[in-house]
Amino acid sequence: MSEEEHPDVIVCPGGPLLLRGDHVVEDADGKRHRTSRSVSAVCRCGATGAPPWCDGTHQQFPRDRRP
Ligand code: FES
Repeated sequence: MSEEEHPDVIVCPGGPLLLRGDHVVEDADGKRHRTSRSVSAVCRCGATGAPPWCDGTHQQFPRDRRP
């Protein structure tokens, strides 16, 4: 399967950024986090209680206020 058919990074409308595979994510404080799952969700709304990861909090906002 090609990279175009199986992308490494997926933007979820109104939700997180999905990373497939191994990555190092630097948070807003400069702390680095290595992904440990086959797919990791990075928060794009800024409301997560577990930064930099999405914890589903974005679902509490109306769709037109989501990233
Ligand atoms: S995108 Fe899911 S909590 Fe922010």
